[in-house]
Amino acid sequence: MISLKEFSHQDSQDKLDFLKKADFRVRGFNIIGAFEGVETVEQMRNKIKELKELSDHDPCERKFFWIIKNDNPIGVITLRPALNGFWLHNAGHIGIAIDKPYRGQNYGTEAFKRMCRKAYDEYGIKDIITMALTDNIASRTMIEKSGGKYWDTITAADGEKLARYWIKHQ
Ligand SMILES: CC(C)(COP(=O)(O)OP(=O)(O)OC[C@H]1O[C@@H](n2cnc3c(N)ncnc32)[C@H](O)[C@@H]1OP(=O)(O)O)[C@@H](O)C(=O)NCCC(=O)NCCS
Repeated sequence: MISLKEFSHQDSQDKLDFLKKADFRVRGFNIIGAFEGVETVEQMRNKIKELKELSDHDPCERKFFWIIKNDNPIGVITLRPALNGFWLHNAGHIGIAIDKPYRGQNYGTEAFKRMCRKAYDEYGIKDIITMALTDNIASRTMIEKSGGKYWDTITAADGEKLARYWIKHQ
């Protein structure tokens, strides 16, 4: 059983330890890159505040959540509640990464479904648009297991091929 907890400027050492060790450096998802060079809890909190402020002023704001299992972070998931122009063709509403040792145990699907529920119930999103690099089989399987219906394949600004999916409001 996992839960989602929004990034907070009160997050402490366990989150910093996780950010330092998590193996997230993958094509298509670069949240950890923002924390490059962060060494102390204070620096991490400042970075979280900065990300929040940047996001609040961005027309396509982004919410960040820890994926928590037994009180420990095992991944990160993001939501763009008001998906607009550029992001509609390059990312979609939801981005997710599970730390390597925890992959393949259904946590990704569980977190993804939970994020969809939150998007419908708390952010009033009607239908979710999500996408995965065409060769990212784990991500595509997770999306399909979460109710995603294939829509089309597009070429993103960086030239990568993205498979787009709809998840109808339930
Ligand atoms: C995509 C990701 C979040 C999925 O998380 P996860 O916890 O491993 O996912 P789940 O265990 O819930 O399900 C993954 C499904 O893909 C399948 N899968 C995983 N790797 C696979 C591979 N290389 N080839 C084929 N199927 C694969 C699993 O078997 C599982 O399907 P099943 O339940 O039918 O067996 C995780 O792999 C990850 O963090 N990847 C790196 C970041 C990323 O690519 N994020 C998505 C871009 S936004």
